[in-house]
Amino acid sequence: METRGLKLCAVVVAVCTVLALAASIGLAQDDNSYIGIKKGKCKMCHAKQFKSWQKTKHATVFDKLSDAEKKDVELLKTRTVGYGQPSGFKSVAETSHLVNVGCEACHGPAAIHVAVPLSKKEEKRTSILTPKEKNTCADCHDEHEITEEMKKVQQETESKTTCLGCHDPHGQMKKSI
Ligand code: HEC
Ligand code: HEC
Ligand code: HEC
Ligand code: HEC
Repeated sequence: METRGLKLCAVVVAVCTVLALAASIGLAQDDNSYIGIKKGKCKMCHAKQFKSWQKTKHATVFDKLSDAEKKDVELLKTRTVGYGQPSGFKSVAETSHLVNVGCEACHGPAAIHVAVPLSKKEEKRTSILTPKEKNTCADCHDEHEITEEMKKVQQETESKTTCLGCHDPHGQMKKSI
């Protein structure tokens, strides 16, 4: 029993070392894949964004579908992570870790980001997409009419002309109207 435990330990350490090494020598972007919110452990390092996101519709929008709706391609495209992409959502049976509008729906595949060792701050930052410029919201949302009322919440920021001028990507509105 004890030996088995030790062996398992050694295997875990070896796997981690390989991952870290692969990252430090630079995995090709092609090797990047969607890993899902649990395996990605995003919460461990980004508790603030996670807690805020968890309260949004994005976090539960797939869970709320009926069993029949969970097979409706049109709904799946906007309620799962990476639909139609190689490592993205396929079906609940195959990819249950990629349901709902998780972090990677906006930030893209995070396998490399998670594998990069914490000591490499700059690589951590550059290994994942921060969708400031490309409007990832448009992958799933149409633009809506902007009323005078709505303009009151618009911020004078660099991104004021995009959705982010008014919406917190991990929460709701920046201010209520
Ligand atoms: C082991 C810790 C760790 C884990 C796990 C982790 N990250 Fe990060 N992440 C970091 C660090 C460190 C940075 C750089 C932060 C900084 O410089 O302020 C970062 C930066 C980011 C950024 C900002 C990039 C930028 O341009 O500034 C995003 C977005 C991000 N992570 C998303 C995620 C997502 C999504 C997951 C889960 C799939 C995840 N992270 C998992 C540690 C982690
Ligand atoms: C609906 C799209 C969307 C989802 C879902 C999302 N993000 Fe983001 N995230 C963004 C955008 C857009 C930015 C850039 C914000 C800006 O520049 O004002 C961002 C920025 C960040 C940053 C950089 C620091 C910051 O707060 O600006 C981190 C870290 C981050 N996200 C982590 C996460 C994690 C972890 C999750 C899942 C729990 C997540 N995000 C889910 C769109 C999203
Ligand atoms: C992968 C698809 C997807 C992406 C990307 C996405 N959303 Fe959503 N979003 C949804 C779905 C689905 C809903 C729920 C719609 C419904 O309930 O009818 C939603 C709901 C919302 C809501 C209403 C929330 C509430 O609680 O009432 C807001 C606001 C929103 N999204 C803003 C954004 C913004 C801003 C971005 C970009 C930073 C974004 N979304 C990116 C799919 C997405
Ligand atoms: C000028 C500010 C502003 C901009 C820019 C803006 N929104 Fe909104 N949006 C609002 C406000 C305010 C509401 C709340 C309306 C309400 O509850 O009556 C809202 C509501 C929403 C909703 C929820 C609608 C519903 O029926 O529940 C979604 C989704 C949304 N916005 C997405 C987006 C996306 C995607 C973009 C970028 C293409 C965007 N918004 C740009 C201010 C803005």
